[in-house]
Amino acid sequence: MCGIVGYLGTRRAYPVLIKGLKRLEYRGYDSAGVALITDRGDLQVYKTKGKVADLEAYASDKDVTGCVGIAHTRWATHGEPNSTNAHPHYSESNNLALIHNGIIENYITLKKQLEEHGVKFRSTTDTEVLVQLIEYMQKSQNVDLLTAVRLSLQRVIGAYAIAILDKSNPGQIIAARKSSPLVVGIGEDEFFLGSDASPIIEYTDKVIYLNDGDIAVIRRNEELEIVDFNNIPLEHEIKTVDLKLGQIEKGGFPHFMLKEIFEQPECLKDCMRGRINVDQTHVKLSAIIDYKDRLLAARRFIIVACGTSWHAGLIGKQLIESICGIPVEVEYASEFRYSNPVITNEDVVIAISQSGETADTLAAIQLAKQKGAFIYGICNAVGSSIARATDTGSYIHVGPEIGVASTKAFTGQVTVLTMLALALAKEKKVISSNQYSMMVNELNAIPDKMEEVLKANDHIRDISRIFTYAHNFLYLGRGFNYPVALEGALKLKEISYIHAEGYPAAEMKHGPIALIDDEMPVVVIATQNVLYDKLMSNIQEIKARRGRVIAIVTEGDTSVKALADEYIELPRTLECLEPLLATIPLQMLAYHIAICKGKDVDQPRNLAKSVTVE
Ligand code: G6P
Repeated sequence: MCGIVGYLGTRRAYPVLIKGLKRLEYRGYDSAGVALITDRGDLQVYKTKGKVADLEAYASDKDVTGCVGIAHTRWATHGEPNSTNAHPHYSESNNLALIHNGIIENYITLKKQLEEHGVKFRSTTDTEVLVQLIEYMQKSQNVDLLTAVRLSLQRVIGAYAIAILDKSNPGQIIAARKSSPLVVGIGEDEFFLGSDASPIIEYTDKVIYLNDGDIAVIRRNEELEIVDFNNIPLEHEIKTVDLKLGQIEKGGFPHFMLKEIFEQPECLKDCMRGRINVDQTHVKLSAIIDYKDRLLAARRFIIVACGTSWHAGLIGKQLIESICGIPVEVEYASEFRYSNPVITNEDVVIAISQSGETADTLAAIQLAKQKGAFIYGICNAVGSSIARATDTGSYIHVGPEIGVASTKAFTGQVTVLTMLALALAKEKKVISSNQYSMMVNELNAIPDKMEEVLKANDHIRDISRIFTYAHNFLYLGRGFNYPVALEGALKLKEISYIHAEGYPAAEMKHGPIALIDDEMPVVVIATQNVLYDKLMSNIQEIKARRGRVIAIVTEGDTSVKALADEYIELPRTLECLEPLLATIPLQMLAYHIAICKGKDVDQPRNLAKSVTVE
């Protein structure tokens, strides 16, 4: 969702804020703004529709002096993306400026009450209600800013991370969070704020992850103070962030997405490092060692996730059911949370989330916890809200993912799920030592095989040029590759805006076959596994209707190649590990088609990387 940056210290705030916004632009990019207390003591807000580069152009002839400021890049929820609705929002007197990530759910009631007291609004956002409420509290109760913030937040229902500047107190920023992430960076005589640590790590590796209900009071030349809504001081642990600048830069690639696609072999090695010992044929996940009894006693697993993570969950279900014999359900977190699910304390909920901040997944965890389930998290972002809300879990360790369309996080999630299934099966003694060692060895070989797949990049770029004309795509797969078909279709629609549907191949004849004509590209994952012959028949059916087939085949295949219009080869692997290879050409296909269509692959329209609202 939106990205928040703040700075108070001895440097010029503006360049720090702009650089920080660029690092957070993946969170939203329909408008951007900055508020500074300038050297002249003015509280200046500059904001504009568009991206951070548009903000820079807009502010190029303005006074951007000052060593304290806050900045925001927006993903609109309430009010269309225009300059008026962009953040920061001034209070009526222009003495306060506030930025916000989240949703104020009771903003209509609050706005009405404030209007009855004569407050005039400029925007149609929920956020402006908050800054007006804080100023109203300040004036009507004759209190300082911190008290006004506390009193206001007590009346607010919703989710927020906020930061606020007060012209009359230029040495201070107040920030608060509830259900939206916020990190405070602590340097020498300076403080930073960020929705995540990426805008901060260039300056300091010391951070505090705020908890829900925390209000941080950042004051020049003073220690950081954190209080709750009742002004009770709270202790906080300063953490050291293990994030390198190179991990959040493009490293010579034209886009983050392409960099992240190509990083996958190394990422999977990082994901498996210390967890797979091929010599001793051993998979070791600390969560399983620590919570073995609880996990082995599970009556069933319920996987909750959204988007790409949900697709990884579908593969996880097949892995866990086929290797461990434990029943698994996979639910969209957004549906699960409102479905009054039957959950007992014999259930284990596996929450999968790259960002660790997805609001629906977090709410699903809270619900399952209340009902007594044990929660296992699979996250990428270390220290994220979901990672902290779970009972235990495994990080995927693939490094920051910045392209909005998820790539390396997906393969990292599938890798962790594979290790989880293997470790559980071993503990349950339901896997033969032959099968176990074969799987461990083959999983360990996947990064090298991924390198082979990545060599097809130029070939896939050529294929994508042929199909850029298409308005619709169908993706077909079966078994372990059915979720890969869903994921391939999602990638294409996210970044190229071409309508694409993923389907279990055999279901094609129950509807989608009606769509097939000589303009319809159909991507078929037709690798040589137990369902190969069935997929051959599906391809025949498509060709009989003059559809255009792009086939993903096992190297050495001849039969599918003879039928398909285009094909991409994959090294041979175990069927249950094929998703780790088969997904890569589909990521590349989506990438190149989007590039051919001139789309912004890293920041596709209407999407955001981290969805911290319902
Ligand atoms: C957004 C992102 C997707 C992601 C989904 C779930 O829609 O654009 O790429 O798969 O959220 O996010 P999570 O961080 O929970 O995996």
